[in-house]
Amino acid sequence: MEKMPYRSDLDATVSVVSTVEAARSEWQAGLPVLHGEQVVLRELRASDAASLFALLTAEEVARFISPPPTSVEGFERFIAWTLRQRTLGTYVCFAITLKGFDTAIGIFQVRETERGFGTAEWGFALGSGFWGTGIFHEGADLVLEFAFDTLGVHRLEARAAVLNGRGNGALMKIGAVQECILRKSFLRKGQHLDQALYSILADDRRASRWTPGVVVSARRQH
Ligand SMILES: CC(C)(COP(=O)(O)OP(=O)(O)OC[C@H]1O[C@@H](n2cnc3c(N)ncnc32)[C@H](O)[C@@H]1OP(=O)(O)O)[C@@H](O)C(=O)NCCC(=O)NCCS
Repeated sequence: MEKMPYRSDLDATVSVVSTVEAARSEWQAGLPVLHGEQVVLRELRASDAASLFALLTAEEVARFISPPPTSVEGFERFIAWTLRQRTLGTYVCFAITLKGFDTAIGIFQVRETERGFGTAEWGFALGSGFWGTGIFHEGADLVLEFAFDTLGVHRLEARAAVLNGRGNGALMKIGAVQECILRKSFLRKGQHLDQALYSILADDRRASRWTPGVVVSARRQH
């Protein structure tokens, strides 16, 4: 019964909506730019559509993720959608860029799975030419800091197809804990694939800030 949908505190829809409107936070108006050593995460722009189309529709990138848009125009519509969802306060999407180069080479997405971002799910994709370079790890660290410190997430989930070796490896590398296998939970190209469910808790994260190897110098700039 814990997760049944009725909540008396949310029953007064009108007052809840106005409270949410009044409490619109800074990130809903526009995402901050997150700076690492070599990675800069920023809001997506319509002009990112061409590079994201070129990099994220490659078979090796798209194989185990929800099908990406199939054209540059489709990516433009996706980008416009991400901005609308951010304004609504339910989802954020960062472009991955490299310091000194503004080209988007991948994305990190975070969506709330519980009203108010208490629990959330994230996903990511990076052009395959940049795999194994540390860019994912550094970008992930910035996104985790943003999710836990700014969005207020206390539990961040990720799903990775069991067959997705790099996806599982990347998640484990940054300290995500595999909790279970969601059998036949992901339909891709007509096949139902098993997925592993991972979580990272805000508490885990606080502890890991003191672990060698975890980027601690990342700073946020608006
Ligand atoms: C997921 C993704 C962003 C990770 O970025 P990346 O640069 O490839 O990640 P990293 O190289 O830092 O980490 C991957 C780890 O998995 C390991 N790995 C590779 N193949 C593996 C396999 N079959 N089984 C287990 N681990 C594997 C790598 O060795 C690496 O660990 P290491 O650095 O300790 O050697 C990138 O691979 C990607 O965009 N993939 C396509 C999109 C995707 O699948 N996204 C959803 C993921 S759930």
